[in-house]
Amino acid sequence: MLAIIGGSGLTRFVRMEVAERRQVATPYGDPSAALTFGHLCGRPLVFLARHGDEHTIPPHQVNYRANLWALRMCAPVGIVAVAAVGSIRSDLRPGDLVIPHQIIDYTWARHSTFHEGPHSAVTHVDFTEPYDFVLRRQIGAAAAALEIRVSDEAVYAATQGPRLETAAEINRLERDGADVVGMTGMPEAVLARELAIPYAAINVVANYAAGRGDSREAICMDAIHTVLEGAMQQVHAIIEKMLTSDD
Ligand code: HPA
Repeated sequence: MLAIIGGSGLTRFVRMEVAERRQVATPYGDPSAALTFGHLCGRPLVFLARHGDEHTIPPHQVNYRANLWALRMCAPVGIVAVAAVGSIRSDLRPGDLVIPHQIIDYTWARHSTFHEGPHSAVTHVDFTEPYDFVLRRQIGAAAAALEIRVSDEAVYAATQGPRLETAAEINRLERDGADVVGMTGMPEAVLARELAIPYAAINVVANYAAGRGDSREAICMDAIHTVLEGAMQQVHAIIEKMLTSDD
């Protein structure tokens, strides 16, 4: 069964036939929402709303460990994480879709490992390639089959939020090599790695990052909502295609 973590603009999987909503308890506390089990295009799926069903949990307060632990209990074949991002590059425009291949982590004070506590051995997971190659390729193939344009390589900068960045911070992220910026990619990706769950992301460009493009003077929040609404239709289509591509 594939698992989907939905971010801003994706709190529900509308076309999903819901079989069950299950509140799962974990040693790390409560996940952001009940897990939604059901079928999409006849294929099993589990969905979790990262920011809660009512979109009330800000990025720095998401219980990433509880979310990943709860999903692991469903033994998913993989996790596709959907998240809005700001674009640092002029050629990645609002509404575009991106499959990132690398991460730079600027978050702080988030619980970013399962390997801590008095009885836990010190553990260092390999994170050279933070996203699962096969899952990334499946997302790309589904998009290609639908003739939906996606960028299949991008460096994702994970910032702490919940505020947006300053223009100078975006300049620094660009100098560091980042292409897109978001607030939820970490520690989600590394926790999936610690649990050995294949994990990949579909980033939806919601806006130009601070100081770039039409965000030169300010980022317009109303425009973000409109862009996300439109682009999420494509995300739905890609995930449906992924699920049925073995037909
Ligand atoms: N910065 C950080 N996170 C984001 C942005 C942004 O500009 N847009 C959507 N998520």
